[in-house]
Amino acid sequence: MQENSRWHVLASSEEVAVAVYEKILKAAEQAIAERGSFKIVLAGGSTPEKVYRLLAKASSDWSKWFIYHGDERCLPIDHADRNSLMVIQSFLQSVAIPDSQVFNIPAELGPDLGAKAYADVVAEALPFDMVLLGMGEDGHTASLFPGHVHDVEQLTHAVYNSPKPPPERVSISAKALSDTKELIYIITGANKQEAVKAWRMGDNLPVATITPQNSIDIYIDADAYNEGL
Ligand code: 6PG
Repeated sequence: MQENSRWHVLASSEEVAVAVYEKILKAAEQAIAERGSFKIVLAGGSTPEKVYRLLAKASSDWSKWFIYHGDERCLPIDHADRNSLMVIQSFLQSVAIPDSQVFNIPAELGPDLGAKAYADVVAEALPFDMVLLGMGEDGHTASLFPGHVHDVEQLTHAVYNSPKPPPERVSISAKALSDTKELIYIITGANKQEAVKAWRMGDNLPVATITPQNSIDIYIDADAYNEGL
């Protein structure tokens, strides 16, 4: 487990969503005041959707937001399982972030071309102001899976044989996800408990390979957190 982790254990997934939402809005306000823009990497999967629905109703200086994705599934752009579509429907369609500031991963091109194209986008964007990540039951994060080997110097990876469908994906690398002022994890549900335990015991899971200089904030509900450890 990363030494600089701060665990925020909350009673329910709703409380986790509100805490993450408040943390994002505060980071945005600070980044915009200090640097004139807010560059955030959004997590895929189902857990962060509650956060995105709260953001959709918030007020912020949306013209200063820049949106990136930690990973994407290699499916047609309008496929229901695309992370980009989930983010559009739950958040982006309700706020005035200019389209030119939303950087979807062109995963419809396939893992190799998609990763290559997005590496240029990431190179231009770094460092991020905030990276939001989820975690899978096997300790994966973004599309960085246990046992998969990548060139650690790359900014993005082409992913084949993902154990979570679909098998082909594009992911930002651990190195690039670590280049952020703030890193937050959102983790809820009892099915995540074993991976959380392994992470806290020091297992070298993908979730443990994101190592920013500043602290890491992990927002987790009591169901996912093993109090006994
Ligand atoms: C994806 C992801 C992945 C996700 C975790 C948690 O595209 O599948 O970005 O890393 O965040 O698997 O997913 P859930 O929130 O659905 O449990």
